[in-house]
Amino acid sequence: MKQLKIYALVVLFAALSCGKNKEVIKDENSSVSSNIDSKVDSLLSKMTLEEKIGQMNQYNGFWDVTGPTPDNGDAGKKYEHLRKGYVGSMLNVTGVENVRAVQKIAVEETRLGIPLIIGFDVIHGFKTLSPIPLAESASWDLEAIKKSAEVAALEASAAGINWTFAPMVDISRDARWGRVMEGAGEDPFLGSKIGVARIEGFQGSDLSKNNTVAACAKHWAGYGFAEAGRDYNTVDVGTSTLNNIIFPPFEAAVNANVRTFMNSFNELNGIPATGNSYLQRDILKGKWNFDGFVISDWGSMIEMVNHGFAKDKKQAAELSAIAGSDMDMESYAYVSELANLVNEGKVSEDLINDAVKRILRVKFELGLFDDPYKYCDLEREKEVTGSQQIHDAVLDMAKKSIVLLKNENNILPLKKEGQNIVVIGALANDKTSPLGSWRIGAEDGTAVSFLEGMQHYPNNKISYAKGANVITGDASFPFELNINTTDKSEFSKAVSTAKKADVVVMVLGEHAFQSGEARSRSELGLPGVQQELLEAVYAVNKNIVLVLNNGRPLTIPWADAHIPAIVEAWHLGTQSGNAIAQVLYGDYNPSGKLPMTFPRSVGQVPIYYNYKNTGRPTANEPNSVFWSHYTDVSNTPLYPFGHGLSYTTFQYANLNVTVKSGNEVEVSFNLKNTGSIKGKEVAQVYIRDLFASVTRPVKELKGFELVELEPGEAKQITVTLTEKELGFYNNSGDYVVEPGDFTVFVGGSSNTALESNFTL
Ligand code: NOJ
Repeated sequence: MKQLKIYALVVLFAALSCGKNKEVIKDENSSVSSNIDSKVDSLLSKMTLEEKIGQMNQYNGFWDVTGPTPDNGDAGKKYEHLRKGYVGSMLNVTGVENVRAVQKIAVEETRLGIPLIIGFDVIHGFKTLSPIPLAESASWDLEAIKKSAEVAALEASAAGINWTFAPMVDISRDARWGRVMEGAGEDPFLGSKIGVARIEGFQGSDLSKNNTVAACAKHWAGYGFAEAGRDYNTVDVGTSTLNNIIFPPFEAAVNANVRTFMNSFNELNGIPATGNSYLQRDILKGKWNFDGFVISDWGSMIEMVNHGFAKDKKQAAELSAIAGSDMDMESYAYVSELANLVNEGKVSEDLINDAVKRILRVKFELGLFDDPYKYCDLEREKEVTGSQQIHDAVLDMAKKSIVLLKNENNILPLKKEGQNIVVIGALANDKTSPLGSWRIGAEDGTAVSFLEGMQHYPNNKISYAKGANVITGDASFPFELNINTTDKSEFSKAVSTAKKADVVVMVLGEHAFQSGEARSRSELGLPGVQQELLEAVYAVNKNIVLVLNNGRPLTIPWADAHIPAIVEAWHLGTQSGNAIAQVLYGDYNPSGKLPMTFPRSVGQVPIYYNYKNTGRPTANEPNSVFWSHYTDVSNTPLYPFGHGLSYTTFQYANLNVTVKSGNEVEVSFNLKNTGSIKGKEVAQVYIRDLFASVTRPVKELKGFELVELEPGEAKQITVTLTEKELGFYNNSGDYVVEPGDFTVFVGGSSNTALESNFTL
């Protein structure tokens, strides 16, 4: 009782003392993290069943500083629920004033004054945006990625947010799936490293600081394997793929102490993830001992009725709680059904206690009990939002994310003077699309457009012709986006302007909202009339630099065959135009490498570098038919995983492989900059386990190093492979390192340059 009183006083005091330089108020033991468990237990012992279930309930933002939203069914009860302590978290409430308003109700008006945890999709920045995550992943620069997450946390936390629903660590091999833009691509090794870098960036080394936020590994699990790339679709994958491809980035996230997980919309092998005990209890909380909490995805509990897994909302709540979903995002299932389920003996109160403890623990770790308003400092919000520091960081990240796909005859870098450059494409003059998908905190029109970026180089003549709109109508409302498939009325102007140019830069690709959630595509070419535009311009001027803006791999075989230079510039965020211009002019030498294979045709999808060999991998005689291939397209990709050029060239030589004791293998090789300018190269190390109790892929990335070299400079690179890299999960889920023969491959892409063998 005494402790409760102290606690209530602390909360009250904290509630009254907002603003900068306020004294941080601590309860009697708050700085001692080992005490968190006992504080959680003590608080839990004072909670009613309804209050406990309240902690497991998350509502979408409804608070307007002028008052609550009008009553409107279930949703209309949110305000009343918040007052009663039946809400543990809110999402999509942003800005210091708004967050403070809801937090004030939680801490001042509820019986126990438990603060809310405030979640938001800070996917690649909050207001000032970094490149989309797939683009950032193309940097293979873990320090830069960590830094990007750090500045995203800085800006978001200054706006009251203390929990991001990121990183998405879903591996995907299917570019039709629009959410590939949100992940790290197709590879579990690279995906794990990038996921960890993001978690470290978001959470920092001290979660209780006001500039760090709790991270969330999502979507657990298998979401990236939606059949036919159609979002939310069925997922049916075998044990080996689950254990070796889908699970590793999630396991790495747990090891990096990610504080929350989000489950996924999909069913996995017949069981929706939200009601899946195997995923949430056996693997995540059992085998991996995860001590944070799991939030459902938006409405994913109630969607189990549509899946045909739960009879109704009540059973959906029951199945979710039993399966280990700790918090309900917007299904209203826990808040309305869980108490009855406990009273009827269908859900044990122990399960509720476990979920609530997990949630409270994270709130304590965030320091919300010490100071529920620690993210509510108006002055800090003003100072931090859009600061120079954040703009510098997102520009740096944007440059590092660009991939030079092709550069024939050194058409790039562009000369800085005396050139007549014609820029074509609606995306070149767009200040919204470069922001990318998943950027709900940012305002439309806040990106530096490509044309604006080019203006920093005033000694060339730049003319612009739109050529064609990518979409029709207004894209500011992302739910209505139509592709322009008919309007070619501005082609002729673009073509005639292009005729006189020394170089034509065509900025083509996808509008931001053509990738992202629910933006699956069945064709992966340039949408609408853009391919025709490209060909029409090419007919009059072949000196074209094609700059791609897109959120996923595209099929561009015609462009690859005809256009001399192709630059993959994704959706690069707020500083997009500046980053692209600096790369085109050679003020930044590109070093990005594809984190995802580019197919030749959509029929090759899923296509990925770490495929299995099959029993018939090659034609054993000319014109043989009966081998694993297509009759109308080669098996090879257009651009392989790991591909990316530089304005300089690199040479790999002298591969040496030494097996050390204790299953350690030292791989060393020489990397030389053979060109005339300084450049960075991502040196990649792959292995193949030639024979195993479960077949292994033809290549698996197991190490990489980002190396910067002066012209002519050479460096000896050594990558040590340990048991962590040499083994795999067998079909019982056990990690094994099997003795036998291996091949090591080294090079600047998954089409490697050197190889050697070793035996374990
Ligand atoms: C649905 C998405 O699948 C998830 O990733 C996101 O975090 C939530 N909505 C909340 O916006």
